[in-house]
Amino acid sequence: MSTQDTPTRRADLRSGPHVPPERAALGCRDVTKTFGAVTACDDVSIGIDDGEWVSIVGPNGAGKTTLLNVLNGFYDPDTGGRIFLDGEDVTADRAYKRARKGLGRTFQGLELFDDEDVLENVMTTQAVRERPNLLSALLFYRGGRRLEAENMRRVEEIIDYLELWEYRHDTVASLPLGIQRRVDLARTLALDPDVLLLDEAMSGLTFDEKYDMVRFLADLNENEGLTLVMIEHDLEVVTDVSERMVVLNQGGVVARGNPEDVTNDPEVRNIYTGVD
Ligand SMILES: Nc1ncnc2c1ncn2[C@@H]1O[C@H](COP(=O)(O)OP(=O)(O)OP(=O)(O)O)[C@@H](O)[C@H]1O
Ligand SMILES: [Mg+2]
Repeated sequence: MSTQDTPTRRADLRSGPHVPPERAALGCRDVTKTFGAVTACDDVSIGIDDGEWVSIVGPNGAGKTTLLNVLNGFYDPDTGGRIFLDGEDVTADRAYKRARKGLGRTFQGLELFDDEDVLENVMTTQAVRERPNLLSALLFYRGGRRLEAENMRRVEEIIDYLELWEYRHDTVASLPLGIQRRVDLARTLALDPDVLLLDEAMSGLTFDEKYDMVRFLADLNENEGLTLVMIEHDLEVVTDVSERMVVLNQGGVVARGNPEDVTNDPEVRNIYTGVD
């Protein structure tokens, strides 16, 4: 009998972070985030190891996006919560600083510049590397200034890598959702992240589009060493690709562990009954 089959297995799903957040590639300790009377995150502590592919799942309103927003610095946690990036306490750092320290993210609502073409979308983000913030990057770029040749090469490399070359002069609004999500990924890669937060990057995609997205993410994880933290509703995808998963419900972590054990857990199955 392997240790995974021992009777303690189920209890392990309720244990704490498997990597101490303070020493993790990305971690948080005691994160609570309230909006008025709503507790969106409720005392969450997680630790994600370098090079891992972790999924965060949970029903609508469970607090998944809020947790990502706290991790990347869009929201401050309530007093006492701490965020760690590569072993460093970054709680006081704003989002752009965390991005420069290697934390990238994509958006559930795809916050792309719809009227701009693919190249411009990725170039604008790349310009953030040369400018202190997005507004200044936009002014820089729209002012007709050119990216440094080296950075322009990087933009072209990313577009090529994600097989977006044929779409590079198409406006984002004219492209199918699967390609738009890939543009969002390209934009995030332009900042050279070590850890990538993905908020439902496969939502609304066809089977083939999901397959492509998984293919790119697997390559980034295995060959480029990127640590991936992915919010995903499709449990089949989660079980197929991730090494560990964390289940949130009503803001709190209710289970964590390897995807097979977690998805077979009665409490998790109960939470998911009737959801998606
Ligand atoms: N900026 C905000 N102001 C007020 N309440 C918020 C805000 N953001 C999130 N909430 C509330 O916090 C809770 C968690 O929302 P969140 O968007 O994090 O959930 P989610 O797990 O990402 O859901 P979904 O699967 O629908 O994307 C919800 O009750 C939501 O209404
Ligand atoms: Mg969400």
